Amino acid sequence: MSTLRAVQISKSFGAVAVLDRIDLTVQPGETYALLGPSGCGKSTLLRVMAGFEPADEGRVELAGRVVTRPSPERGMVAQAGTLFPWLPLRDNLAFGPREAGRSDVDEVVAELLQATGLADFADALPRQLSGGMQQRAAIAQVLANGPPVLLLDEPFGALDAQTRLRMHEWLRSVLAARETTTLLVTHDVDEALLLADRLGLLSARPARVVEEIPVPFGGARGRHTLSDPAFVRMKAQILDRVLVA
Ligand SMILES: Nc1ncnc2c1ncn2[C@@H]1O[C@H](COP(=O)(O)OP(=O)(O)OP(=O)(O)O)[C@@H](O)[C@H]1O
Ligand SMILES: [Mg+2]
Repeated sequence: MSTLRAVQISKSFGAVAVLDRIDLTVQPGETYALLGPSGCGKSTLLRVMAGFEPADEGRVELAGRVVTRPSPERGMVAQAGTLFPWLPLRDNLAFGPREAGRSDVDEVVAELLQATGLADFADALPRQLSGGMQQRAAIAQVLANGPPVLLLDEPFGALDAQTRLRMHEWLRSVLAARETTTLLVTHDVDEALLLADRLGLLSARPARVVEEIPVPFGGARGRHTLSDPAFVRMKAQILDRVLVA
């Protein structure tokens, strides 16, 4: 399995310093959430980790090898969805495995349609799906490549609170069934606490990792977790820190 590391990553756009010596390690199979304020540099960091953009300084390593370019082994779900608008859902999901020349494309697609609860919409175009369905489909499209590493940029940001909670329950079960190393970027404390094994708090721009916090809630998490007194306490503590970071 794959350890994903950022080592002393710094990056600026012109005079704007965005990332300041970011060090982090996501353990194999771990879900790690980066929590930070809007505009602090989260998407930039994820694009650097994915290999889409170079860092000015520092490096990204996957399983000890330096990352220099994008690869299907690091599946990225961008902040704005990535489905092909002209392809039915079935072909969106089949795209990656077909490109990879896999012989079991139909099985991969059937399994993901099942896992996303979208089997009845296999022939629908993305615009015919609801927002939550499109988000699930965009994640499934990346999972179709079987990536050992998943990079998620606020995957449920545009959804209402109830749908988002259902999506969190869904994603937790999907990640539990795979041994994916996952780096999730979010500004939503509930999302971080419901999904992650560990979280890293980022400062305002330029982003630094201010603190790393293990999340103690274990396996089955969902709507019942939100009212757990330990969850409520931890959320309040983290909000305190985020608001002064
Ligand atoms: N390609 C670019 N060229 C110039 N500046 C950029 C570029 N990409 C990002 N920036 C700047 O870098 C900073 C961080 O942007 P980024 O998108 O990484 O933030 P973010 O934490 O993901 O924000 P949000 O929570 O709103 O998604 C912003 O000031 C933005 O204007
Ligand atoms: Mg962003």
